[in-house]
Amino acid sequence: MITPDTVSKIFETARIDEVVGEFVKLKRRGVNLVGLCPFHDEKTPSFSVSPARGIYKCFGCGKGGNAVNFLMEHEHYTYPEALQYLAKKYNIEIEEKQLTEEDQKEQSEKEALFLLSSFAQKYFHEALIQSEEGKSVGLSYFKERGYNKETIIKFGLGYCPGKWDEFTNYALKNGYKRDHLLKTSLSKSKDHQLYDTFRGRVIFPIHNLSGRVLGFGARTLSADPKKPKYINSAESEIYHKSKILYGIYFAKSSIISNDNCYITEGYTDVISLHQAGIENVVASSGTSLTVDQIRLIRRYTNNITLLFDGDPAGVKAAFRGIDLILEQGLNIKLVLFPQGEDPDSYSRNNRPADVLDFVNKNANDFISFKTNLLLEETGDDPVKKAGLIKEIASTIALVPDNIARTLYIQRCSELMNIEEKWLFAEINKTRRQKFQKEKMKKSAEEQEMVETTFSDEKHEVDLQASESPEFKEKELVRIMLAYGNKEIMLDAVNEDNRPVTVPYNVLKILVEDIESENLEFETPVCRKIFEELKTTYYDQLEVSEQHFFNHDDENVRQLAIELLTSKYNLSANWENKQKIYVSSEEDNLKKIVFEVLYNFKLLKLDKMIYENQEKLKKEKDNEKIIDYIKVDKDLKEKRSHFANELSRVVLK
Ligand code: CTP
Ligand code: MN
Repeated sequence: MITPDTVSKIFETARIDEVVGEFVKLKRRGVNLVGLCPFHDEKTPSFSVSPARGIYKCFGCGKGGNAVNFLMEHEHYTYPEALQYLAKKYNIEIEEKQLTEEDQKEQSEKEALFLLSSFAQKYFHEALIQSEEGKSVGLSYFKERGYNKETIIKFGLGYCPGKWDEFTNYALKNGYKRDHLLKTSLSKSKDHQLYDTFRGRVIFPIHNLSGRVLGFGARTLSADPKKPKYINSAESEIYHKSKILYGIYFAKSSIISNDNCYITEGYTDVISLHQAGIENVVASSGTSLTVDQIRLIRRYTNNITLLFDGDPAGVKAAFRGIDLILEQGLNIKLVLFPQGEDPDSYSRNNRPADVLDFVNKNANDFISFKTNLLLEETGDDPVKKAGLIKEIASTIALVPDNIARTLYIQRCSELMNIEEKWLFAEINKTRRQKFQKEKMKKSAEEQEMVETTFSDEKHEVDLQASESPEFKEKELVRIMLAYGNKEIMLDAVNEDNRPVTVPYNVLKILVEDIESENLEFETPVCRKIFEELKTTYYDQLEVSEQHFFNHDDENVRQLAIELLTSKYNLSANWENKQKIYVSSEEDNLKKIVFEVLYNFKLLKLDKMIYENQEKLKKEKDNEKIIDYIKVDKDLKEKRSHFANELSRVVLK
């Protein structure tokens, strides 16, 4: 277990913008940073990071938290893992207490698979570099392909010995479980005997965004066409091939700085390009590009350049990729390599500077790419040419942005020598058909609801919510958290009985008032926060936002973040609206403090009146009935007093 001292050191040092910035492309906006939310799909940024407060918050999906929460949510780290990650990032030495047996048992299944994958990667890498077999078979193969030592180490390449079960046995001996070996597809089972899936192959480990190994690609060294060229890890709890791109961990910072991502087909393309100095490159690894993979890239850039082999299969794959990328609203360029070459062979056969030069010179937009390729087939045949225009128009129709679509239409009109208005007509027709189809998918009724009543409905819900007891309690907690350290001026009299105004601390007013009347919060999380605020007040401390943002209790933390960030700012303009709102709230602080307090009191009085009346109904004893009636009268008087006060405060 990591000691509390280390934990607080980590919390103090970690910078939320730096931590989130590793995974999300952030742009500065005012005092905060914004980006596309990594937790839900969106095209305009509603994900906000506040370096000053050490938190992130998405106004779209509502997710929010501190640096550790981000890592747990985004990287699926456990709490200690997230701390370890941060400690490593900031060079903080971790002081640890021994793990108990129970702690170990608690390690999740996923974590076990990660640990095993990392263990296997190290084993394969050492086997490549140190064992005789690895050196003579695997290492010499990589050297022949032109990989230098640096590259081999950077990508953690490896070799799995050719003997039937060498790795499996070693893993079992080291305490890794049979079940986990099978789940990660590192081992297979035959007649209850385990053997190595990747035996005799060179290994390409596949890393997630934060550099942890999730799976492997293993290439055969034999020329036997009957043997599969690659064997890849099967899907597992940690490896989903449609959601990961090979090389993304090594590419992400270069993708951000170049504002472009190259996509290739294979492991070897990525590695060779890296060695040639082009680092913003990933591979879809044999599967056709998926929407999830494109979204992964979109966190870092809006620009994709597809690099493809000049063979028919490559062209076909490129065509599929184009539509998908455009549909996600990204910009795309394409580079086709000369017949018989792929990015890997081209980088090996040319000097690094020439590789970059070739890629830059041959990057085409998709219209010229398609046109050039297809025009070769169609020649001057008008019917075929019409077919080609339709084909290109159908792709342009996928572009979601109006302006971008118009620009593509202009470009196509130039290239194909056809009037823009025909293209507009064709494309609009396609888009109408597309919408029609989508509409039919959902039921007609449902669609109508979404279009016409959504905003009203939401408004109503909000109004109702603002009347609920929970809302009123949360408002009171919010005021204490946000303004507890502030002072407001209240009327009083001095020693000479003269009216004066004196400053009062907001937390003091609220805590003392609530305590003196024995009022209780019903909502558990509010009660918990209030208990802590009481301690803060009695210990004469300041209310600390950070204390609640980093609270152990998930509910406390979430509510604190929700209350201190989201009020009146559901849009991406967090800081602006927040500022305006906060400043107007501060100007009216006195009014707001009492408004919220009286609302809370009325709520409690209503409850007391109701409970008293329930008792009254059941009571048989005359004397007690008289007592209850008296209580009822007192409570109602009090209620009307506070209702009056409230309306005075509100109307002032
Ligand atoms: N691939 C695969 N299984 C195969 C063939 C290919 O998973 N049987 C995937 C691999 O991720 C491979 C990519 O598709 O990297 C591209 O295939 P290919 O071009 O055939 O392989 P290269 O990586 O170029 O390998 P090499 O240069 O050694 O031929
Ligand atoms: Mn190749």
